Formats: sequence, structure tokens, C-alpha cells
Amino acid sequence: MEIFKEITPLKAFLKAKKQHHNTIGLVPTMGALHRGHLSLIETCQSQNNVTICSIFVNPAQFNNASDLEHYPRTLEQDTLLLEKVECDAIFCPESSEMYPGPPLVRFDFGPLDKIMEGEFRPGHFSGVALVVSKLFNIIEPDNAYFGQKDWQQFAIIRQLTEELRFNLKLHTVETTREDDGLAMSSRNQRLKGPDRLNAGVFYQALLAARESLIKGIALDKVRHTVREMVNARPGVSLEYFEVADSINLNQLDSVKASDRPILCIAGFVGEVRLIDNMFLY
Ligand code: PAJ
Repeated sequence: MEIFKEITPLKAFLKAKKQHHNTIGLVPTMGALHRGHLSLIETCQSQNNVTICSIFVNPAQFNNASDLEHYPRTLEQDTLLLEKVECDAIFCPESSEMYPGPPLVRFDFGPLDKIMEGEFRPGHFSGVALVVSKLFNIIEPDNAYFGQKDWQQFAIIRQLTEELRFNLKLHTVETTREDDGLAMSSRNQRLKGPDRLNAGVFYQALLAARESLIKGIALDKVRHTVREMVNARPGVSLEYFEVADSINLNQLDSVKASDRPILCIAGFVGEVRLIDNMFLY
């Protein structure tokens, strides 16, 4: 497995691979890899000749200094994991390689980034779009893989890819979960003891909400139940529960207003912020 910290040798490696007509698949990550990330790698490997995983904790997408500071960094362990699953290359640049100076470019995704994660994490998606654009420009992959867990992120990257005419195909991979349903996340490492047990409530609330909505219970009532269910757990607080059209992310007042509604939830367990989602059908 090749490990690149700099763009120039990475590009030389990719050029040689492309000359031999290999397809290049990219899995962008911020490291602290878990089974969710590995399922993206596995899907990528099954569809490409060369799989490259980027590991970069992107400062531009953190709107909270403490979140950036506490974000787990486990590059050595991540490298071993990727080696074991036979990933072909890692791109793990320093900040100065990705951001030679403070970035001035900003993205605005209109209605896509004013709600849910965009509302509660101002500037977050501009930072995501910036780093993903850089990765797409540097690597020029044929395929890129993202998790369903961050559905709004995927919707925004799809818009970015279409509008900027990136010549690649995007793919989503289903959310990998712990036994109690908690969506795997690098942030879960910070959950200890009762917090870890209580974190399962987000998935339970999504399941309960889905069941109620399928039975025809009104969305307002379901919203109320979800809030009560989540906030009843000690140390847990709901930030939002939204039902949206999964393609244009329009918030719905009734699930009948869309063919493909998605239920999205976010909240805190202690100081750790978690998100999750589930398709209604
Ligand atoms: P990160 O949180 O490290 O996630 C990297 C990719 O793994 C994302 O596409 C995310 O949706 C996916 N992922 C995370 N948890 C998952 C799970 N439990 N099951 C399946 N896939 C999962 O998302 C980011 O990094 C960054 O915003 C990034 C796109 C790399 C830009 O910096």
C-alpha cells in the first residue's frame, strides 16, 4: 500500500495507474476508521482496479473549535487497517498541503444547506464542498463513495458534482450499525458507560417514528413523541428531527408529499454530537 502526504507524488502514481486503463475509486474520510468506512472501501474495491482512501481532518468544515480539537486522530491504526483490507493507497496530507493559505472560496447550496446540519453547523457544508472539490481535482477519480449516514452531505456533493461538472460517478453505501442500532461514527469513541448505552435512542426513535408514520399517525404527533423519547434519556438532547424529501431535501409537513421521504435526526449525548437517518420506505 502506498502512502502519500503530498500531491505531486500522488499525481504521478495515479497517472501511471490511469495509463494502464485502471479505474480509480476514491473514499474520502477524516480517519478514525471503523467498519462503516471499511464497507465503503470494500464497495469501492469491488468496482474499481485502484482504491484510494483519503484521510484528512478538514479544519474548514468544523464550526466548533472544541469539536475539531477532540476529533479522534488515529493515523497509525488507520494505516494498519487499510493495509489489512488491501487498500491500494492512502492520501493523508498535512493541512498546509490542502490549504496553502486561509481559504477565501465559499460555497452556498441554497435550500440544501440552510436546514438540518446546515442550520445547526453554519459553514460546515461550504467546508465539506471545498475539501471534496480539492480531492476530486487532485485525484480525478472515476468513482467516489459516500455513506448514507451523512445523507445531506451526499445530496450536497451530488449538487456540487453536477454543477461543477466533475467527471465522475457518485455512489452511496448503506449505514453500518452497532448491535443496538447506533450508527457507527468516529465520534462514538468518545461515548463512555451510560452515554454509550443511551446513544442507541436515536436509532430507536427513528424506528418508532417510521412505524408510526407508516401507520398513518400525523407527523406533528410523531415529532412530539420523538422529542420526548430522546430527551427522556439522561444526558441526551434532541437537536432536530426532520422528515424531508430525500432528493431535494424539502422539509415535509406530511409524508404523503414525497415519494421518497427520509427521516433525519441529530442530537447530543453529553458533549458528543451524533446524527442518523432512515428512509421511510
Ligand atoms: P467521515 O465522517 O470520516 O466519513 C467518511 C465517509 O464514511 C462518509 O461518506 C460517511 O458518510 C461514511 N460513513 C461514516 N459512518 C458510516 C457508517 N456507519 N456506515 C457507512 N458509512 C459511513 O464525512 C466525512 O468524513 C467528511 O465530511 C468528508 C466527506 C471526508 C469530507 O471531509
